[in-house]
Amino acid sequence: MSHAELDNQARAILTGNDQGGYTIPTKGLYPYQWNWDSVFVALGFATFDQDRAWREIEMLFEGQWRDGMVPHILFRKDDPSYFPGPSVWGTDGGPIPSSGHSQPPVAASVVHDLLAGDTTGRGEERAERLLPKLMNWHRWYLSYRDPDGLGVIAVIHPWESGRDNLPDWDEALRAVEVRDIGPYERKDTSHVDPAMRPHKEDYDRYLSIVAACRNVGWDPAKVAATCPFFVADPGVTFIFLRANRDLLALAERLGRNEEADEIRGWIAKMEEGAARLWNEDLMAHVAVNERTCKQTDGISSASFLALYAGLTDTRTLSALQGHFDRIAAKVRYLMPSYDPGHPSYEPLRYWRGPVWAMINYMIAKGFAEAGDKARAERLRADTAKLIETGGFAEYFSPESGAGAGGGAFSWTSAIWLTWASSTRAEQAA
Ligand code: GLC
Repeated sequence: MSHAELDNQARAILTGNDQGGYTIPTKGLYPYQWNWDSVFVALGFATFDQDRAWREIEMLFEGQWRDGMVPHILFRKDDPSYFPGPSVWGTDGGPIPSSGHSQPPVAASVVHDLLAGDTTGRGEERAERLLPKLMNWHRWYLSYRDPDGLGVIAVIHPWESGRDNLPDWDEALRAVEVRDIGPYERKDTSHVDPAMRPHKEDYDRYLSIVAACRNVGWDPAKVAATCPFFVADPGVTFIFLRANRDLLALAERLGRNEEADEIRGWIAKMEEGAARLWNEDLMAHVAVNERTCKQTDGISSASFLALYAGLTDTRTLSALQGHFDRIAAKVRYLMPSYDPGHPSYEPLRYWRGPVWAMINYMIAKGFAEAGDKARAERLRADTAKLIETGGFAEYFSPESGAGAGGGAFSWTSAIWLTWASSTRAEQAA
């Protein structure tokens, strides 16, 4: 199929998953509005309907909590085909029923990009309305996911990282006591092959963390102090650092000096804090269990996001180029979500090996900005090939290239439109 035909398919998937201003990730498996899915989706819409792209982000922020948090799922309507739904979360923090934690804060970066490409004439006004909301969300992250001011962001649940069953969470998750969960019935395994989904032992603990936070009323300070899971995540940390740089550019463009000064302080702190995640044996940034101060022992696709975060010093860049080439010699398609040389790697189990298009997009952006156009292009070409052969799947095997998980997936379609399609590269040239 030609890239122009795939462009049409991608647009049809986005409009098909559109619920009237917000987009679901895919029908069946994920029937609500997810935070970072929506934000990537906005990039896809921006290629053919900029007004609709802004709307996506605005609707996400309609669910912002009073304390500043932007939830990972907004349950705008009841859907019995999904578990765990609103009654399990038991939250009361915002105007729309929602889950109780957040997801990677890519929104400021995408708002920045939407404004940069805006031709609607209303972009500035819309960005101006979003700026205070973005500021509040970022303040929330600093207060409650880095309460000790270490300059790294922790997640209180594997789902908050957006990389649900990553091997980095295994040890911290095993330490979570299974309690207060009662009998429950999963729905994910009726939509998708159970061999590709997290195990039941993991699921019990996912729900136990939710129960522990529900028991403290989702009070963010109590959650930070008592949550049985609190792990500094290179993924969220680097996405947040990058988002702060984009938020700063946005504040400067809009002439908001006070905010700009505040953001400069955040950036300085995070640039310094990143060293906490650096694993000298592996020569890469990894996760740190903040309850035990122990670093994890594997390289994940998020380790490569250091460049996207602007940490492009020679040591980091050359270490990541080395890992890139080593991994490229092991698998056919980049970038597996976990190091194929690590014993926990599994090519088809969700975040333990598969390739995800939106992660490739961010890694490539980092390499390109660090001046390494060749590796950036390799990632784009691999992503394009995966979609050409595997369709607009949720994720792909780095070995066979097979598409897996849910089909007709929104963020895969959006990343195709905004970056992977060769028609896009031609437009940009
Ligand atoms: C899974 C993914 C998460 C994503 C969600 C909806 O939970 O791990 O990153 O946001 O599905 O697509």
